[in-house]
Amino acid sequence: MFFQRYFKFMSHDMAIDLGTANTVVYVRGRGIVLNEPSVVAIETINGVKRVRAVGDDAKLMMGKTPGSIEAIRPLRDGVIADIDVAEQMIKHFIQKVHGPRRFPRWPEIVICVPSGSTSVERRAIRDAASNAGASQVWLIEEPMAAAIGAGMPVTEPIGSMVVDIGGGTTEVAVLSLRGLAYTTSVRVGGDKMDEAIGSYVRRNHNLLIGEATAERIKQEVGVAKMPADGKGETIHIKGRDLVNGVPKEITITQAQIAEALTEPVSAIVEGVRIALENTAPELAADIVDQGIVLTGGGALLTGIDEVLREATGLPVSIADDPLTCVALGTGRALEDPVFRGVLQTA
Ligand SMILES: Nc1ncnc2c1ncn2[C@@H]1O[C@H](COP(=O)(O)OP(=O)(O)OP(=O)(O)O)[C@@H](O)[C@H]1O
Ligand SMILES: [Mg+2]
Repeated sequence: MFFQRYFKFMSHDMAIDLGTANTVVYVRGRGIVLNEPSVVAIETINGVKRVRAVGDDAKLMMGKTPGSIEAIRPLRDGVIADIDVAEQMIKHFIQKVHGPRRFPRWPEIVICVPSGSTSVERRAIRDAASNAGASQVWLIEEPMAAAIGAGMPVTEPIGSMVVDIGGGTTEVAVLSLRGLAYTTSVRVGGDKMDEAIGSYVRRNHNLLIGEATAERIKQEVGVAKMPADGKGETIHIKGRDLVNGVPKEITITQAQIAEALTEPVSAIVEGVRIALENTAPELAADIVDQGIVLTGGGALLTGIDEVLREATGLPVSIADDPLTCVALGTGRALEDPVFRGVLQTA
């Protein structure tokens, strides 16, 4: 009895949200213990590749690496672009959470996978976690994890809609009775927004900016909707002049950012519209009462909730902590037997 309790206490069972932008790790009984960018810096010396940095350290290198180092995002557009690097990243994060000590019991791991991943990729992810020491690996679909994390009534016969706006994809799902009644995935998320900002300043101001700069602009002053005064705040952006090649700074307004983001934002609205059109009437009726819940980092884009509210006429709310919501839901699925039914073996 004592040992049983001791082992439970020492448990390193974990839940991992393997996102295209961020990986978040939750440990049973401890909650979220790690939240880092899904980036790996690979160094090649004399033709031999070696992991130089992972996570926060690797993201700092993005766009600034010398020829011998490459900062890679192994997951892109909601799919696994480089399975070998993804495997190294998973192992690195698991070991980081485990610490250098050895534990009396191998952990059980639940991994939330991008819904666009194929069965071959899912098996590869499962194998990576097994190789890193997991005794049992479960997989969970991202919209289900997001809905559990947001505290939606997924186990009840009540329809609810979750819209997870991640880095690579936006997943729209209608859930009821532990299952996905309808799901659709749009390959538009934070990355496409960054690209849209980048190409806007290139086209209109002849200024070349990096991915990291575009993301920073989006997070700091990005808006999904035209500001009420038609202008909003003014922003200074530094980059390289496309014409004469020298560094320069320009000034743009939030209204211009809103214009730049029109396309990705409309694609998200369109995804939600399609999901609503395909929802069974009884479930649709529930959504009118329950409203739509937004999760994922993209939910933090100022005004995105308002745009969706105007487009659908439904109540729209943002989950408490959109960036960790999926990991929290994955963690609850690991901890609470009520959710066991939503876990898949591969
Ligand atoms: N304040 C903000 N405003 C707009 N976007 C934001 C904000 N904060 C974070 N983001 C964006 O959210 C995205 C990351 O969200 P999240 O961590 O949910 O994605 P992910 O789970 O890794 O991706 P996916 O679910 O597609 O695999 C990034 O594109 C990031 O730039
Ligand atoms: Mg995600």
